[in-house]
Amino acid sequence: MKILIVYAHPYEGSFNNAILETTQSSLASSTHDYEIIDLNKEGFNPVLRKEELKIYPQGKFLDPQVGEYLKKLKAAAHLVFIFPIWWGGVPAILKGFFDKVFLKKETYEFKGLRPVPKLKNKSATVISTMNSPKLFYSLYLKSPIKQTVIKSTLKVCGVKKVKWFELSRVVSVSNKKRKKMLAKIRKYFSKL
Ligand SMILES: Cc1cc2nc3c(=O)[nH]c(=O)nc-3n(C[C@H](O)[C@H](O)[C@H](O)COP(=O)(O)O)c2cc1C
Repeated sequence: MKILIVYAHPYEGSFNNAILETTQSSLASSTHDYEIIDLNKEGFNPVLRKEELKIYPQGKFLDPQVGEYLKKLKAAAHLVFIFPIWWGGVPAILKGFFDKVFLKKETYEFKGLRPVPKLKNKSATVISTMNSPKLFYSLYLKSPIKQTVIKSTLKVCGVKKVKWFELSRVVSVSNKKRKKMLAKIRKYFSKL
């Protein structure tokens, strides 16, 4: 299966980087064919500018990186998103990936008021890290990642099967607990 990993963390010593490395090493010993988009390393510009917004309704873009990423997105059977939670949501660079690459006509269309998904037959894994406890995020904040990334973006575009690793308290917990989280991810990808 063709897998596309979209990674959104700027710092190599981070826990997110350990998640990326774990995912990569697990997939490397599988039969899957995977590719990584490292948004920060590749210098992706997340801002959807006036000139780009003008042609957005026609499914067109100006940024050549968008064309490259869109091709990879459409070719993949499984999408993996790895990112830290910043102010309840995704880092700006990943938000820009959704804004610019999940283009109208390519990933969804509208028939009247009804969105018609165009990314069919794909599944996804979302791995987010945060330092809050899970209950605070789900009960008090109402799980913004579930609402914005999983429901409003992936599911609207047709990605129906989504597994979410909601890793909480990642800064405060012991190294032993962080290793346990990585082991869970390793096991999941080795069985994907
Ligand atoms: C700008 C910024 C905003 C953050 N906002 C939140 C937040 O809203 N909720 C939360 O639980 N943690 C928040 N954090 C903490 C990060 O989620 C946490 O440091 C990260 O998941 C740890 O993983 P890392 O070592 O890979 O960076 C924030 C961190 C930064 C830098």
